[in-house]
Amino acid sequence: MKLFIVTGASKGLGEEMLRQLMRPGHRLIGLARGEGTELQAEARARGVRLEWISCDLSDARRLETVMAEALTDGSGGEGSDVGIGPGNGSAFADGITGAYLINNAGTIEPMAPVDRCSVPDMARSVALNLIAPMALTAEFIRHTAGWDVDRRVLNVSSGAGKKPYYGWSAYCASKAALDMFTRCAGEEQQVEEGGVRVLSVAPGVVDTGMQSRIRETSADLFRQRDRFVRLKQSGALLSPGEAADKLLRVLFDDRHPSGSVLDIRDLF
Ligand SMILES: NC(=O)c1ccc[n+]([C@@H]2O[C@H](COP(=O)([O-])OP(=O)(O)OC[C@H]3O[C@@H](n4cnc5c(N)ncnc54)[C@H](OP(=O)(O)O)[C@@H]3O)[C@@H](O)[C@H]2O)c1
Repeated sequence: MKLFIVTGASKGLGEEMLRQLMRPGHRLIGLARGEGTELQAEARARGVRLEWISCDLSDARRLETVMAEALTDGSGGEGSDVGIGPGNGSAFADGITGAYLINNAGTIEPMAPVDRCSVPDMARSVALNLIAPMALTAEFIRHTAGWDVDRRVLNVSSGAGKKPYYGWSAYCASKAALDMFTRCAGEEQQVEEGGVRVLSVAPGVVDTGMQSRIRETSADLFRQRDRFVRLKQSGALLSPGEAADKLLRVLFDDRHPSGSVLDIRDLF
């Protein structure tokens, strides 16, 4: 049984990745603020076990318990060992042959020049785009330390982590830092026996709610808005299904060592 934890699983890319992972032999855990009710019904209909954790991942105080809930028996009953400490969850791990964390949840907000961004909005952006994947990766590595299985983390990054955009400072900065976090964590895991493969992958421009939000912004706040409008009009956006398929293929591509920072536009 392969275990997949997908953040931001209620919409867009995360929803598509979760849907494509609804296969026999997979156990899924979805995280988002939303309830994921329809996805849970879909998983049930396809005979796949999907657990859902509703949480605001920009609240750093929740992150340790979220991963403990995900990687132990959430019922709190027999077999549950939440809070015992690093490397726990061995009963939970029985029958698991691979464990995969996909840090996908993210926000483009606030979209405005820095002097027009509020401090709480900038803090929320960095908390969701950077602190959450850092903390969840750390907790994932700790909780699965004793598991003798294939373990991988996919951090969903962005081309905006490499190139500055007018009005996207919090987003660009948090994705750039996520790439560097991936490189450092990957460097560490490469020297560990059975270490976790940590990757950072930019998906290209994908036709999701995030892109609608970008097109709705005033050009005064985001000066490249018209370029994104034209990309949509010319049909140049990747569908969430295509992008999800490519991201999942990269997750299982053994050519990329732990710490790799990749862009699917260079790979396919
Ligand atoms: N779309 C693109 O063109 C594009 C390009 C490059 C990179 N990316 C990256 O791809 C990833 C997915 O983006 P997307 O386009 O699919 O975005 P999206 O359609 O806006 O979906 C974002 C997902 O994140 C969840 N989320 C947002 N805030 C959250 C919070 N505070 N706590 C927990 N979950 C939260 C949302 O669920 P709830 O609202 O239910 O919480 C939703 O499931 C992001 O990391 C994004 O930066 C996207």
